[in-house]
Amino acid sequence: AIERTLSIIKPDAVAKNVIGQIVARFEQANLKVIAARLQQLSREDAERFYAVHKERPFYKDLVDFMVSGPVFVQVLEGENAIQKNRDLMGATDPKKADAGTIRADFADSIDANAVHGSDAAETAANEIAFFFAESTVHSR
Ligand code: CMP
Repeated sequence: AIERTLSIIKPDAVAKNVIGQIVARFEQANLKVIAARLQQLSREDAERFYAVHKERPFYKDLVDFMVSGPVFVQVLEGENAIQKNRDLMGATDPKKADAGTIRADFADSIDANAVHGSDAAETAANEIAFFFAESTVHSR
């Protein structure tokens, strides 16, 4: 089925100037960028976005990292977009990510891991709504 998913290019990858190289991988996999912007998250934004991880030991480091510079947020649309994006990203820990995945090629650590992608249909809908009003999403 045609799905939408939220993709975030994190501050480490933005700082490395590889936004275009990462977006090219989505496009090569037939995912379309149907909304996008560069945004500096506030601490409150990052805390709210990652509220599900609030009790985890890595929460504070995660929030600190996500506000350390601008992120590039996008909605990707295409066949099986949620799983396809996860396959392109590779494992959360870049040391465990398969060769040729975005995290294997661009990530430095489990915190600075280059990209975020929604993990399921319900989270995708919530994460997309967190960043984008429906009027700013352009299915095409
Ligand atoms: P992301 O997909 O953005 O969702 C939560 C983030 O927490 C994850 O990517 C990692 O960058 C970060 N993180 C740090 N430590 C861990 C951990 N032990 N398990 C899962 N995520 C972690």
